[in-house]
Amino acid sequence: MSLYDLNKNMVPPDEIARQREYAALVRTVLSARFDDPPRAFVHTYGCQGNVSDGERMKGMLHACGFAFTDVREEADFVLYNTCAVREHAEDRVFGNVGALKPLKNRRRHMKIALCGCMVQQPRVTERLQRSYPFVDLVFGTHVTHRLPEFLYRLYCTGEKVYEILQSDGVIAEQIPVSRDSSFKAWVPIMYGCNNFCSYCIVPYVRGRERSRSTEAILDEVRTVVQAGYKEITLLGQNVNSYKGDVNFSGLLRRINEIPGEFIVRFMTSHPKDCTRELIDTIAACEKVERHLHLPFQSGNDRILREMNRHYDREKYLSLVRYAKEKIPDLLLTSDVIVGFPGETAEEFEDTLSLADTVGFSSLFLFIFSPRAGTKAACMPDETDRAEKVRRFQALEKLQAQHSARIAEAMIGRSFRVLCEEESRPGLLTGKTSGSMTVEFPGEADRIGSFVTVRVTERAGWTLKGEIEP
Ligand code: SAM
Ligand code: SF4
Ligand code: F3S
Repeated sequence: MSLYDLNKNMVPPDEIARQREYAALVRTVLSARFDDPPRAFVHTYGCQGNVSDGERMKGMLHACGFAFTDVREEADFVLYNTCAVREHAEDRVFGNVGALKPLKNRRRHMKIALCGCMVQQPRVTERLQRSYPFVDLVFGTHVTHRLPEFLYRLYCTGEKVYEILQSDGVIAEQIPVSRDSSFKAWVPIMYGCNNFCSYCIVPYVRGRERSRSTEAILDEVRTVVQAGYKEITLLGQNVNSYKGDVNFSGLLRRINEIPGEFIVRFMTSHPKDCTRELIDTIAACEKVERHLHLPFQSGNDRILREMNRHYDREKYLSLVRYAKEKIPDLLLTSDVIVGFPGETAEEFEDTLSLADTVGFSSLFLFIFSPRAGTKAACMPDETDRAEKVRRFQALEKLQAQHSARIAEAMIGRSFRVLCEEESRPGLLTGKTSGSMTVEFPGEADRIGSFVTVRVTERAGWTLKGEIEP
């Protein structure tokens, strides 16, 4: 039985083959038009899922004959892979695209393309068509696998291409991927989201939740491990609701059995679907790192109901208690929204107290940003910006104390660390199992390999250490 028969969301293999043919045609067209391979500048905003999509787009661009550049001014093709999660993310894209106009006037052959979550919204595409006529190609999240076809149309007809499909979404396998790192690999396990948290745009721009087949995921993991990748991060908006031949815990166990020296991370876990079975699985799997990113968003039950999160404070805290009991060295991180419509100062106190009770190693804090089309965007919101900023800063201050305390407790302990990058000449950084950054003396040729680092001190909440012989 083929993967297509198993899952109605799958893009049929003959469609993928058709895109491969388009890629070959684009290659021919471009090699006749450019002396050297044309250079693409690809910039991705937003979450790791979007970064992973961007790597697949680069894979397709490579198959179409493009080389890559980090210098936008030298590019022949500019692609912005956008995010819509907060207003600020959208403003940055409009600003950057606007700045391309004079550049395009100087480099008339340069093509400008936009894709990703932001352009999936009709009001954005309308604005692009109206006010940014120099943008050549715009394509939505459900048609990314057709990039070679769009490039063919763009370069052969010279016409603008706008392809936004409103659909529940698809799964496209066998797309070439050009990974940014040679030792850290993103592996999507599912796409879309069904949760409709009242503040969130993701379900509207990413379609319904759909899981990749277990075999396709295991194949991808085996391929990257054989290619020498050392860190695999499994991605999905709610990995705990993965539905393949096995559930998410089963998937982790199957990946853990794959031979090789590598570590496994995953994100994001949703508290409503995060189970004790998952905690037991992390405890049992030696390749799965001791870190759980478990966004709680608010510590107040009324706000959690208004957010449509489907768990309450006590359920969250009991999960955390179980996790800490089973995995004493587990570190927890979380996302929080401050200033949700109608949040009172007392309700915000519940968020502070939850953060204080759990003791996260770090928190990602966001001030509520109304997203058109979501339920929360229509809720009355009387709290002024200054008060929201005050709450944000209060939480930030509390978190700094917890981060410092947790960092302090690491001093004297040793961790296996994957050397990730050179922060300064002769100094490397990597992450502990719990995902805390540590800096230590070491040569760049160690990047991409594991070392054991003993933590010797902390600077703020960054750890400093040294490699053990
Ligand atoms: N699926 C993940 C989950 O449920 O935890 C999170 C995905 S979202 C891309 C990342 C974070 O952005 C969320 O956890 C939330 O804290 C924040 N976020 C989403 N919508 C937001 C909004 N309208 N305003 C402010 N922050 C928002
Ligand atoms: Fe957004 Fe909620 Fe889905 Fe996360 S689970 S992507 S916050 S709707
Ligand atoms: Fe942004 Fe889309 Fe991710 S809205 S956070 S890029 S799923």
